Amino acid sequence: MLGDLSGLRDRILADLAAASTLEALEALRVSALGKKGSLTAAFSALRDLSPEDKRAAGQEVNAVKLVIEDALAVRSQILNDQALQEQIKAQTLDMTLPPVAMGLGRRHPLSRTLDDIVALFARQGFVLHHGPDVEDDEHNFGALNFPAHHPARQMHDTFYVDQRDANGQPMLLRTHTSCVQIHALKGATLPARILAAGRTYRCDSDQTHTPMFHQVEGVVIEDGITMGHLRGCLETFLANFFERDRVDIRFRPSYFPFTEPSAEVDIRCRRDANGIVIGEGDDWLEVLGCGMIHPHVLTACGLDATRHQGFAFGLGVERLAMLKYGISDLRMFFQNDGRWLGHYGFVG
Ligand code: DAH
Repeated sequence: MLGDLSGLRDRILADLAAASTLEALEALRVSALGKKGSLTAAFSALRDLSPEDKRAAGQEVNAVKLVIEDALAVRSQILNDQALQEQIKAQTLDMTLPPVAMGLGRRHPLSRTLDDIVALFARQGFVLHHGPDVEDDEHNFGALNFPAHHPARQMHDTFYVDQRDANGQPMLLRTHTSCVQIHALKGATLPARILAAGRTYRCDSDQTHTPMFHQVEGVVIEDGITMGHLRGCLETFLANFFERDRVDIRFRPSYFPFTEPSAEVDIRCRRDANGIVIGEGDDWLEVLGCGMIHPHVLTACGLDATRHQGFAFGLGVERLAMLKYGISDLRMFFQNDGRWLGHYGFVG
């Protein structure tokens, strides 16, 4: 028996229009078009008709089926949109609320460390400068005295981007903040105390390397400036940063293309079961690189290298933060784990 087909259609359409959840809609689909559905039953009833009647009735049932399928699709779209809107509403975060004051969040130890470093160097007269994250080869390497094809370039595991500079060289993500000194020194009034702080990138990822990390670079150009001044500047900074009256540091000869002579700086420390204690003990730990600015760098910035001299240093922010706050795994900085931030983050 085919029964009242248009009545069945109207009832199903009314039910679909009234369905208020995706689950209710699915239940209606099954009750109409499922194996034991009302419309499926109408299809089965076609079997009992004569061949002539079957054709006309078949077309009729099919038309109803199409109308119902359309209505199902429309209703499903509406309910999906509503569900999405509700989800968005439930997840809305008022970005204008002061999170720390509301007890909703913590300051990330890296932000805090970066701000502390900048503030401590500001006390020594350094002025903060900014440069782009996407750099050209000349600023990141050439002007910093990395000759073309020099092996020192390979030490940097550079990320290249799909864009070329005016010389046809591929642009890159800066591998250090040293390049900011080139921007800052061009046309600078001397004497100058320049600081750069921010993100740097290298294609490297393991327990002690992340593809993005942070550096601070400092540069001083001043008549009569020597490595002795460099040492004093770093000792003052490190003692303040690690909140000690004084810290012992030692310079180890090293190589960087942009400084000559170059040194790596170690800080006196003690290692015990709880980790590393800075400022006492008989051990040494490398904390940064530095040196006297290479004359080629001064020349590249338009300065007369026979008249001017200066020093530069570069340090890793993650490394200093790990040492100061006893954080053992570098990768935790970037995992955005709320429990970790709750422990290591700062209120205020
Ligand atoms: N640019 C160096 C690096 O990323 C760090 C550095 C070392 C900066 C020595 C300096 C310096 O200015 O003098 O490894």
